[in-house]
Amino acid sequence: MVLPIDPIEVIPATPHIGAEIRNYKMSAPMTQTQFALIHEALMNHQVLFFHDQQMSLTQHKEFARRFGALHIHPGIPGPEGHPEVIAIHTDENSTRIAGEDWHSDVTCDGEPPMGSLLHMHEVPKSGGDTLFASMYAAYDALSKPLQTLLGGLTALHSGEMAYRGRYQHRGVDDREMTYPDNDHPVIRTHPVTQRKALFVNRIFTARINGVTEAESAALLQFLFAHIEKPEFQVRFRWYPGSVAFWDNRAVQHYAIWDYFPQRRSGFRVTVAGDRPY
Ligand code: SIN
Repeated sequence: MVLPIDPIEVIPATPHIGAEIRNYKMSAPMTQTQFALIHEALMNHQVLFFHDQQMSLTQHKEFARRFGALHIHPGIPGPEGHPEVIAIHTDENSTRIAGEDWHSDVTCDGEPPMGSLLHMHEVPKSGGDTLFASMYAAYDALSKPLQTLLGGLTALHSGEMAYRGRYQHRGVDDREMTYPDNDHPVIRTHPVTQRKALFVNRIFTARINGVTEAESAALLQFLFAHIEKPEFQVRFRWYPGSVAFWDNRAVQHYAIWDYFPQRRSGFRVTVAGDRPY
């Protein structure tokens, strides 16, 4: 007798952002139907959460590859044999952590990543949650005159500002390295949903182009505070085996470091993206 397979469930977490995916094993090969469902859920909810996932780095990369080519980080070396993987690790010796401020991943690249998949292996007893914020909701909440003004502007995203000296603790000597700096629109259009999203962030955006320093600083200060409104957010509690898959074109995230000196450990695989417009 063939037992019926439970259908994949998509359970929205908030009206604006986030959904949990149930009844899906990421380690198994993905059918075209499953891909279409998960892709549609990502487009609708911007960040997807999975629990109880056991998968190797190779399986993690295979899942991510269904959504596009894998991205290699310009500053962080991957574990042996896996240059596309970033170890996310914090313990009692850590002096900083990855993602400890609002950002979308690697926006200093000319073609910033489309998405990121973080698989958590070890979590603190409590704490270590990650916040995700919808940049669609942040854009939609702006007044029409401000949407129009920002829609005509670009901003400089600086790898130099974000990364210089940043990975010494991972054994990276970056004196001979250069990091990417690129201009991107302040408001980007999502290439699949065609929705508009705010695209400046605290870690990478150095200045808004074509306005004075003072105007740039004031606009950025306003926008950085605006995107942090709880109404645009979902907060994710991790367990060993949890995965978050977020769309960097529509979401910013913030890793909360409230659990020192406990350990938190996982691996991130990042999917390449295209030039924002
Ligand atoms: C990151 O990819 O920015 C880290 C997110 C996290 O550790 O929750």
